[in-house]
Amino acid sequence: MTSSSISARPGGTVLVTGGAGFIGCAISDALVDEFDRVVVVDNLHRQIHATGERPVRLNPAAELVVADVTEAKTWDTVLEDVTPDVVIHLAAETGTGQSLEESTRHTHVNVVGTSQLLDGLNRHGKLPRRIVLSSSRAVYGEGAWQDADGRVFYPGQRTSETLDKAQWDFPGASPVAMKASETFPAPVSVYGATKLAQEHVLQAWAKSYGVETAILRLQNVYGPGQSLINPYTGIMSLFCRMAMGGKSIPLYEDGEVRRDFILIDDVASAIVAGAVSPTVQGEPMDIGSGEFQTIGTAAKLIAEHYKAPESHVTGQYRQGDVRHAWADITAAEKVLGWTPKYNLAQGIEQLATWIDAQPGVNPA
Ligand SMILES: NC(=O)c1ccc[n+]([C@@H]2O[C@H](COP(=O)([O-])OP(=O)(O)OC[C@H]3O[C@@H](n4cnc5c(N)ncnc54)[C@H](O)[C@@H]3O)[C@@H](O)[C@H]2O)c1
Repeated sequence: MTSSSISARPGGTVLVTGGAGFIGCAISDALVDEFDRVVVVDNLHRQIHATGERPVRLNPAAELVVADVTEAKTWDTVLEDVTPDVVIHLAAETGTGQSLEESTRHTHVNVVGTSQLLDGLNRHGKLPRRIVLSSSRAVYGEGAWQDADGRVFYPGQRTSETLDKAQWDFPGASPVAMKASETFPAPVSVYGATKLAQEHVLQAWAKSYGVETAILRLQNVYGPGQSLINPYTGIMSLFCRMAMGGKSIPLYEDGEVRRDFILIDDVASAIVAGAVSPTVQGEPMDIGSGEFQTIGTAAKLIAEHYKAPESHVTGQYRQGDVRHAWADITAAEKVLGWTPKYNLAQGIEQLATWIDAQPGVNPA
């Protein structure tokens, strides 16, 4: 564990890549409170930002530079003017399923985008005190399971042969919570592989230069502000839009897929804690609600909110989806002094209320 002299309000400058996105906007108010200067670098990617305009949820005091993280010239321009004390690296291509068909794009933005940022910091002699990386539970793939005798094993990716037979789980075994200090990462999507590569590139670089890192592996983030137009992410908003249109929500596999849904407010407080806490640990930490819910439970709560018909199981599956995922968050709670505050029912209420208030939202 490394420590620094960051005070309760660190001040100075924070540079946020991808800071105009879902998570970036959600942390912008707190960053404006904590730092003297907040600079966001974001290319306003059209898959997320339909109009290409500055999002209204981004705090007006945050300076927005519209530029691509993968280009060296972005960093030459930005770092001529900006001397970051802390960098929060959020910019990424985030489509798990999409990454299988667009692996070059995902790898380029997520891996080369990270190395260009690091090279830029180095080239301009502007090493920050700390870099916070929003990594993902996708680095674990199926994660660890245990057999009836409690022996932990790694089953690896499920095959279409077993999935076609509706054999969703690994027979005679039960899943184990994901814990960075114990669970071996073994991504089953290109997206997950790029997030793991991001971690490795950052750690190798930061350790060499004595820069602190806070690597946060986020579980499924949802809540007000999430993209309502990006078809590749955001199962909760998709379910809301289905239920809003009076549809029965279709559940893949048997509806018993487990996820750790964490409300955006809780993720925002974790990332800000990663940026300002007096101590961090160089090794990754898990961020989630600390408990799992089935997709069926989430769908039920959403259907109830909209008075939609009950959801139904389709038995379909999606290649690259893992069966179960939830986090052991004890490390983040201890190191960052952070703890999630919202349960699933409260979070869904917040999300649905926000969606209902958005103009022109089309039922899915
Ligand atoms: N939302 C989740 O459930 C979740 C879960 C795990 C990890 N994460 C990670 O958190 C981070 C932020 O996720 P989010 O949900 O806010 O996603 P988002 O898509 O809403 O935000 C990403 C932002 O990055 C920008 N961006 C994309 N490519 C860029 C490029 N080449 N140059 C500059 N900017 C670019 C986009 O315009 C967007 O504003 C990502 O690194 C993602 O991998 C998110």
